[in-house]
Amino acid sequence: MSDQRKSIHGTWSSRWTFILAATGSAVGLGNIWKFPYMAGDNGGGAFVLIYLACIFVIGIPIMLGEIMIGRRGRSSPANTMSFLAKEAESSQAWTLLGATGALAGLLILSFYSVAAGWAMAYVFGGFQETSAQAVSSEFDKFLADPAALLFWHTLFIILTVTIVARGILKGLEAWINTLMPMLFIIIILLCIYAMQTGAFLEGLAYLFKPDFTKINSDVLLAALGQAFFTLSLGMGAIMAYGAYMPADQNIGRTAITVAALDTGVALLAGIAIFPIVFANGLAPTEGPGLVFVTLPIAFANMPLGVLFGTLFFILLSIAALSSSISLIEPGVAWLVESLKTKRAYAAIGLGIFSWILGVFSALSFNLMSEFKLFGMNFFDFTDFLTNQIMLPLGGIFIAVFVGWVMKKKDVLDELQIEDGIIFKSWFFVIRFVAPVMVAMVLLYFFI
Ligand code: PFF
Repeated sequence: MSDQRKSIHGTWSSRWTFILAATGSAVGLGNIWKFPYMAGDNGGGAFVLIYLACIFVIGIPIMLGEIMIGRRGRSSPANTMSFLAKEAESSQAWTLLGATGALAGLLILSFYSVAAGWAMAYVFGGFQETSAQAVSSEFDKFLADPAALLFWHTLFIILTVTIVARGILKGLEAWINTLMPMLFIIIILLCIYAMQTGAFLEGLAYLFKPDFTKINSDVLLAALGQAFFTLSLGMGAIMAYGAYMPADQNIGRTAITVAALDTGVALLAGIAIFPIVFANGLAPTEGPGLVFVTLPIAFANMPLGVLFGTLFFILLSIAALSSSISLIEPGVAWLVESLKTKRAYAAIGLGIFSWILGVFSALSFNLMSEFKLFGMNFFDFTDFLTNQIMLPLGGIFIAVFVGWVMKKKDVLDELQIEDGIIFKSWFFVIRFVAPVMVAMVLLYFFI
């Protein structure tokens, strides 16, 4: 039984803590910053529909698998994979899945931190400008300033490293218990504001009325990648957290709760943002700046807007922090276990790695904007490589490992479930549906 192995990093104090931590990892910039602009860039409703399908058909089943692997291995993803491969009498090459996952986390952190820096800078946004043009040009001015971007990027990495160095089990609980609901309330307020913009229905139609002519291989891969990214799947973050999960917690119910909360926040963010886009004559294809040019307009127009605006960006920055710590945790836990590195040194070392890469991402909006990789600037390239290639590939391997490599009796044992219809359906999805669908989307994109 899994509870005979104990994680050296500790165990969450209660069942609720795991749900909170996993939700903290899942809910972040991916929901409020990335989802709306990805939907905007990829044609709206059709993207949203595919995204939702990916969450339910692929995301939740893989999340279950990832948590299950983590709890059974009770170590960092790399060592967990090594242990479980041994248990399944399979090749130690599976360790690589944990290692590349940890690397993907550091790559994601590099650009995530730059965008989180924008959110932190907007805490001091002022929220006085009501015209779309003025707000837009303020954001462009900000992007053109390398010193400002580097300052906020550095600060965010320092905060992430500090929390991880102290151990992620401390302090998280308070944030997710109180601050997350506050973020939720401000998003609801923004939705109420959006209802009064005069373009609410237009915004909703854009988000939920699928135009199937817009679907192509780019949109499919973007939606799939977004599903992985928003649920923190495919790189071991949830696996690392699963290692700290109490042995008697129901994994299935947990995965569904986390995915539902995450999806709810993303959809509400979209519902708040698109009416503002249309009411102010902005384009949905604004790109990564979309929330930073829409929400300040809303805050400038609403009563107590400065208060709500400031609070919103504080909460968004904290939501980003509760995600970023899970990006670096797989690597840190591995260094602590295998090289006996002090947690603080491991966190600092990996933080510096992500910081350096992030410098290039920050500069890709100004000094290095001419530097392109496959036609993308450095920020977009790292984003594409991780979200749309590394995470889906990681997802395929996780599904294959659970469905084909692990012994079925071990899977059943860890999930503490009967071999009934629920298990059989999930097992079918994890063996066939999820890996085949993800592989098809990737192949379709590249061919
Ligand atoms: N899920 C986070 C978000 O939506 O902001 C980002 C993220 C965290 C992605 C952890 C991947 C990950 F492993």
